[in-house]
Amino acid sequence: MKLRKGVILAGGLGTRLLPLTKITNKHLLPVFDRPMVYFPLQMLVAAGITEVLLVTGGNTAGDFLRLLENGEEFGCSLRYAYQRGEGGIAAALKLAREFAAGDPLAVLLGDNLYENGIAAAAEDFRRQSEGGRILLKEVADPQRFGVPVMEGGRLLRIEEKPAQPASRYAVTGCYFYDAGVFEKIDRCRPSARQELEITDVNNLYLQEGRLEASFVAGWWGDAGTFDSLRRLSNLVAEQGAAARNAAPAGGDGSH
Ligand code: DAU
Repeated sequence: MKLRKGVILAGGLGTRLLPLTKITNKHLLPVFDRPMVYFPLQMLVAAGITEVLLVTGGNTAGDFLRLLENGEEFGCSLRYAYQRGEGGIAAALKLAREFAAGDPLAVLLGDNLYENGIAAAAEDFRRQSEGGRILLKEVADPQRFGVPVMEGGRLLRIEEKPAQPASRYAVTGCYFYDAGVFEKIDRCRPSARQELEITDVNNLYLQEGRLEASFVAGWWGDAGTFDSLRRLSNLVAEQGAAARNAAPAGGDGSH
C-alpha cells in the first residue's frame, strides 16, 4: 500500500498530569529538550509521511498552530482538526475521515515515543495489500495498556487494560490502517469509560483476519503519567548524549 498520510492524536485532558495540564495541553509539555508533540511529528516525517493531520482539543488548541505552523519546518504539510470533549482515541481518529479521503493512514498517539521511530513498521505496512498493523512491545506493566492475547505466536484478540494480562506485551500507540477503518469506527459503541476504544477497532480487524503485528525494537513509552514522563525525558537526554559522543569531532578542530 502507498502510505503518505499520518494522523497525530493529541486531544484528551491529560488529567493524570494535573496540575501540569491545568493551563496547557499534555502534548505541549517538554520531554527533555522538545515539546512532546515534536516526537510523533518527527517520527512520521522520518517514516516518509509528509501529509499530517493533528487532532487536538481543549482551550489551548491554538497553541499548536503557533508552535507548529504549517509543518514546513518539519518537512511536512500539516493540517488540524478539533475534537470536542474527549470521546476516545477512535472518536478522535474519526475526525480524519475527510483528510484520509480513502487513503491508508499511519496513526500515532501524541504521547508515544519510540527510540527507533516507526519507519520499519511503516515499511512492513507498505508491503501489505490491505488491513491494519499494530506495534507490540514487551513491558513490565501490561495491565496499563491494550494487551494482545496470543496463541502460538498468532494474535487472537486484544484486551484493554486487563486486570490479569494474558501476555507481557503492550499494544503501543502507533497503528496503520487501510481505508476500511472508518466503517469499523462507525460500528464501535462507547466503552465502560464512555470512550470509543481503538482496541475495539483493532479487534474488528482481527475478527476479519486482517490485523498484522510488528515488534518494537529499542525503548518505547507513553508520557501519560509523571513516572513515564520522567523516564522518557531521561531516555531522550541519554540518547542525545550518546549521539553527541558517537559523532566524530566536527567544526574547525580549534577546540
Ligand atoms: O499508549 C498506548 C495505549 O494508549 C494503548 O496500549 C491502549 O490500548 C490505548 O487505549 C491507549 O491507552 P491510554 O488510556 O493510555 O490512552 P489515553 O487516554 O492516555 O490517550 C492516549 C492519547 O490519545 C493521548 O495522548 C491523546 C489521544 N486522545 C485520547 C483521548 C481519550 C485523543 O486525541 N482524544 C481522546 O479523546
